[in-house]
Parts: sequence; structure tokens; C-alpha cells
Amino acid sequence: MSARPSTRPAARPATPLDVARVRADFPILANVRPHGKPLVYLDNGASSQMPQQVIDRFVRYRQWEHANIHRGVHHLSQTATEAYEEARRKVQRYLNAAEEREIVFTSNVTDAINLVMQGYGRKFVAAGDEVVLTHLEHHANIVPWQMLCEEKGARLRVVPIDDAGELVLDEYERLLGPRTKLVAVTHVSNALGTVNPVKAMIATAHRHGVPVLVDGAQAVQHMKVDVRDLDADFYAFTGHKLFGPTGIGALYGKAPLLEKMQPYKGGGDMILSVTFEKTTYNAIPHKFEAGTPPIAAAIGLGAAIDYVGAVGLDAIAAHERALLAYATAAVSEIDGVRIYGSARDKAALISFNVGGVHPHDVGTILDHEGIAIRTGHHCAQPVMQRFGIPATARASFAFYNTFDEVDALAAAIRKVQQLFG
Ligand code: ALA
Repeated sequence: MSARPSTRPAARPATPLDVARVRADFPILANVRPHGKPLVYLDNGASSQMPQQVIDRFVRYRQWEHANIHRGVHHLSQTATEAYEEARRKVQRYLNAAEEREIVFTSNVTDAINLVMQGYGRKFVAAGDEVVLTHLEHHANIVPWQMLCEEKGARLRVVPIDDAGELVLDEYERLLGPRTKLVAVTHVSNALGTVNPVKAMIATAHRHGVPVLVDGAQAVQHMKVDVRDLDADFYAFTGHKLFGPTGIGALYGKAPLLEKMQPYKGGGDMILSVTFEKTTYNAIPHKFEAGTPPIAAAIGLGAAIDYVGAVGLDAIAAHERALLAYATAAVSEIDGVRIYGSARDKAALISFNVGGVHPHDVGTILDHEGIAIRTGHHCAQPVMQRFGIPATARASFAFYNTFDEVDALAAAIRKVQQLFG
């Protein structure tokens, strides 16, 4: 396959972000040179990098503040408890939740969705009921519901997508009915970048009296999310895609819903009293946080939220919009490259295939150019099935990415084509 030389460089609009300044906060970006090349990190959809401010906060806790939380009258335990609960308040403010008790710390989005499946689904979904999902879901928002449906004799209903990767909303409306017990929908598709109209979808579900869980794993790092404006019943996100640590995520749930759910895990800290005859559970959110949580990670997540707040989500969104437009132009003008996902509202990622080359080979050659992308099915096999492909290569951007890095991506794709003749 021959590559057409670029004749029309895409415009590089000025963006409100001082990218050089923010990049200086991320030591990994300047200091790691894969195969001797400057690192071009375009795998932010899988996990984003941590700024020094987050690393410092994490280390400060480890060095000077560590103790178990909610369990000690001593100074360190009080300090750790206050820092952990302050992190919860930061999540609350980030999502504009009404109350801090509506924020449950989980280990990631998968854990949050499983919590809702176990705590809400197992209690309220019965034989003959239905759970509505979309064709865009990550496996984390499919498999738990499938397990629930198998256990209960309930049924999954799936909102289809069109060739652009947008949900077919007329079908969505038709799938809702008296048997629907929950809608579970991703805010942003990790495989295609589609931003779903979740506010309208929630309003539609509520007209049928159905609560909605939103998977925000790919959303909160790109845009302002206001759970009260969305009127989401549940909203889940994870720390490590938001420039924070792994092992920590959060579930927002409306207080009345969380209160009527059963706990997911039993153990310490989630109880008020225990006898061999009976256990009474702690108040929300503690009812759902059994055992010692990842305290340092939660505090690190709080620092990441501070960091994103300081950079500014409006500036982040504007820069990423410009990057996406530039990258879409640069990649789509390469003959033989197909981009999957052209939703009108799209987050800054490009899923693509280079004709005749397996995505893993694309990923390996790009890696030798210092460029990190993800290749495979992206834990979204139904999306791949919809397009009749086993896999794609995916470049996913963050606010610290530059137009030069997009040029490097396009040049490396052309190199793939040269190598494969
Ligand atoms: N869900 C993550 C991704 O899309 C891991 O890459």
C-alpha cells in the first residue's frame, strides 16, 4: 500500500492551554525514551500519566501521614482519616454531587459497576426483567449485567449503533418499557470516542421510571461532569485515567438509592454492630467500603482532581478538540487508513486500521518510534463485531499531547505502510 505524501498540513489552531508548561509537570514525558526515541504517549484511554504534584502528594502521605483510617484516636489516624475524607469531598465537588455521602470509593469503574450490580441489581432485578445497555459498552459494563441476567432469568436489551458509532436513539426509546429495571450506558466510548447524549437518555429513562448508571471512565478527564445536571442515578469513574493513581475509583449514587441497596462486600468499617445473630450496617457511603481502603490512592486522586481543576477543564476540552480535529485530518489523509467512529460529538481519540496490517504490528512499529498506542479489541468486542473487525489501533489523547506528536503519529503510520510495502 503506498502512502500519499501529505500535501495539506492541517491547521494548528491556537489553544488556550500552555502545553509546554503543563508538560513540565509530567516527569515521565520528558525523561523516558522508548527505543531511544522521545516518548509520544497516546495511550491515555488506557491509563494517563501522573503529574509531579500528584506523585508528591502520594509520597507525602506515605512518608508523613500514613495510618489506618476511621479506627484510631491517635494523631496519625486522625490525619489520614481527614485526608481521605477530604479526597471524598474533592470528588463530590468535581462531580457536583449534592452530598459527600453520595461518593463511594471503589477500586476502579469495574468495581463500581459490580457494586451496583450486586447491591442494586441482585435486590431489584427479577425473572423477566430487563437491563438496557448499548452496543458501545466496555466489557466492564456488559459482563456484570450478563451475570446478573443469567442468575435472575432477566434479559439484556442492547441499543444499536450506526456506522458513525452513534447510538440509534429511536431504538433506545423503544427498548424501554415496564420490564426495564436499569439503563447502563457509557458516557464516552473507549473504542470509538463517541460522546453519548446521556443527559437526554437519562431524561428518557426517567420518564419510564428507570434509573440510569453512567460509566464515566472515559469522560471525566475530558469534560465537566455535573451529576445533578445530568440527573444521573449512578456515575462511575476511575483515578488512573484522571492523572491519578491506579487502584482507586469512585461511584456516585443518589443517596436514596444507595440507602436502599444491599452492601456488596462484608467486613470491617461497613458495620455499626456485629453479633453472631445479626449485623447492622454502617451509614452510606461506609456501608460499601469494607476493609482498609487504598488510602494513599484516594488522597492521590484528590490531588489529581486539584491538578485538573488548576489546569481548567474548559482549556483542556478546547485543546483536545483542536488536537482531535488536527489528528483526524492528518490520519485520514493517509491512503489506506480507515478511521472507525465519526460521531458528531467525539472525545479525543482515533481508532484506526492500516489496510493489510494487523493492529498489533502497527502498535509494535509505532512503539519503535517511541509512540505508545493501544491495539486490540479495547475490551469492547461488540464494537469490533459491529464493524466486522477483530481489532483496531487506538491513539487516545490527553491535554499534554501536542500537534508535533500528532505529526509523529502520522509519520509513523506512513512508515508502517512503507515497511509493509
Ligand atoms: N478501558 C481501558 C481502555 O480503554 C483500559 O484502554
